[in-house]
Amino acid sequence: MSTPTKKIMGIDTIDPREEIAKRESARATITSDLAELEISPETLNPKLLGGLERLAADSNFYEHSQHTSLGLQNVLKNFGASPETIHDARFAALLHDSGKTGPPGASPAEQKTILDLYNINVPYDTDADYNSLKVGDVARNTARLERCGIEPQMSIRKFWDNHSRWTSENLQAHPEGISDEVRILAASHHAYKKDPICNPYQLETKGFPFALKAMFAIDNTEAAFTRSNLSLPEAIARAERIINKNAELEKDPEMQNIFKAIKDLAEQGNFLLGELHVEKGLERKVA
Ligand SMILES: [Fe+2]
Ligand SMILES: [Fe+2]
Repeated sequence: MSTPTKKIMGIDTIDPREEIAKRESARATITSDLAELEISPETLNPKLLGGLERLAADSNFYEHSQHTSLGLQNVLKNFGASPETIHDARFAALLHDSGKTGPPGASPAEQKTILDLYNINVPYDTDADYNSLKVGDVARNTARLERCGIEPQMSIRKFWDNHSRWTSENLQAHPEGISDEVRILAASHHAYKKDPICNPYQLETKGFPFALKAMFAIDNTEAAFTRSNLSLPEAIARAERIINKNAELEKDPEMQNIFKAIKDLAEQGNFLLGELHVEKGLERKVA
């Protein structure tokens, strides 16, 4: 989404009325999502909420998080997970990409510059582009990025992978109302990747919670479905290919069961966009 600008005396300025309206609508959306989880926004740190608002107002990542949250609910219900597990996973899904506004100390202008860089749709499944492209090749304000530790020669892949670390730092700096379980789930959503930056709590693959494995599958499916415009079965297949690059997860029976379940669910409807009613007999056990 591009920022509305107005030419005033030859200078591009952001229209404050549009900006305020966008932020208010973002806040209303977030408040209503939190209300569904029986969470009052006053219990969370205003800085954390501000970051989520920016995500919702200036990118598609909050919408992606909403779809991921709904998808997780459908999958975890299908496995008969407890209401508490479903609640925590849904909340973690709403928070998981909050690191795309940068580290906790970033100023509003720095947050915007970082988010704009995440908004550039680099085809993330083509490793060649992703590794060879540098931050300095695409960023407009490299000075602002450098103040947040993002050097122009950093590869776009490395920049992209930094958001898991920033999610963990943001949640640690603004911990009010967020349990350890939710924080770890949210910040570990790319822990299937090899780079330790994607696994800020250094979880071992065999210790990944079931809900986290479901998050890997749904987050990647949603990203492929929305950002790459694939059909739902194609998006699931791409998510499976990405996660199966981790040889341990490829052989993991729980991970295989999750993919089997979401392929079945996809035949009943789009589990990212609406609540599905699990038929009796389809429910699977988590263990
Ligand atoms: Fe992410
Ligand atoms: Fe995501």
